[in-house]
Amino acid sequence: MKIVLLGPPGAGKGTQGDLLAERCDLPRYATGDILREAVREQTPLGREAQRFMDAGELVPDEIVIDLVRDVLQRPEAAAGFILDGFPRTVAQAEGLQATLEARGIELDAVLYLDVPEEELVRRLAGRRVCTVCGTVYNVHFDPPQNAGVCDRCGGELETRDDDQEETVRKRLHVYHEQTEPLLDWYAGDGPPVSKVDGVGDVEEVFGELIELVDCR
Ligand code: AP5
Repeated sequence: MKIVLLGPPGAGKGTQGDLLAERCDLPRYATGDILREAVREQTPLGREAQRFMDAGELVPDEIVIDLVRDVLQRPEAAAGFILDGFPRTVAQAEGLQATLEARGIELDAVLYLDVPEEELVRRLAGRRVCTVCGTVYNVHFDPPQNAGVCDRCGGELETRDDDQEETVRKRLHVYHEQTEPLLDWYAGDGPPVSKVDGVGDVEEVFGELIELVDCR
């Protein structure tokens, strides 16, 4: 299965992408995670991407398209993959299509998680991430047993830099301007988009998603 997972910031792409990856035994490639790792390690890619990410803006298309093209050449991606947070612009969707066509591959599913804006803001304000193992919590919906401490590894939990209120507003604006048009683009040029209601328990949403992919 070759799956693209679309949705606004905080829609649950990472949460659901992890569950899908486990159930379908597929690698999940999240451009946000790859870029954050590059920023942490201060690689040339990370230094280039950081100012865009800190501002809640998109990293330039050519950088991200190259990054994903490289990732999809990894041997473990040959049998299938889940792309989380990519594509995010029409140019990225065209870049992905060109990469796949060159290799004679087609996407099997484009899944879109639909969540209203006030819920997104609440989720992003409540998100906490373990600084050691990366486990994601939410103080409103999925709190750790002890505030500020990871249940899994005891690591310290932190708020992502781009989850500050002002940056969240910017990310949502960028989403509406640059990413939402993709839904129409896929309706015309790509495989049809399957829209899933992203509101509800994590398990409930996953139940809907798994019905749409052929890897049960
Ligand atoms: P990225 O990391 O991709 O951020 P995003 O798209 O804004 O998505 P998030 O990670 O914020 O949310 P999510 O949908 O994964 O939700 P999650 O599962 O964590 O990108 C960050 C930045 O990198 C971008 O701003 C940009 O600068 C750059 N970038 C990345 N990709 C790029 C690209 N392709 N092109 C250019 N630039 C790019 O859930 C959120 C919270 O809600 C969590 O606390 C979770 O526990 C909770 N939650 C999840 N599901 C539920 C539920 N059903 N009910 C209640 N709470 C829930």
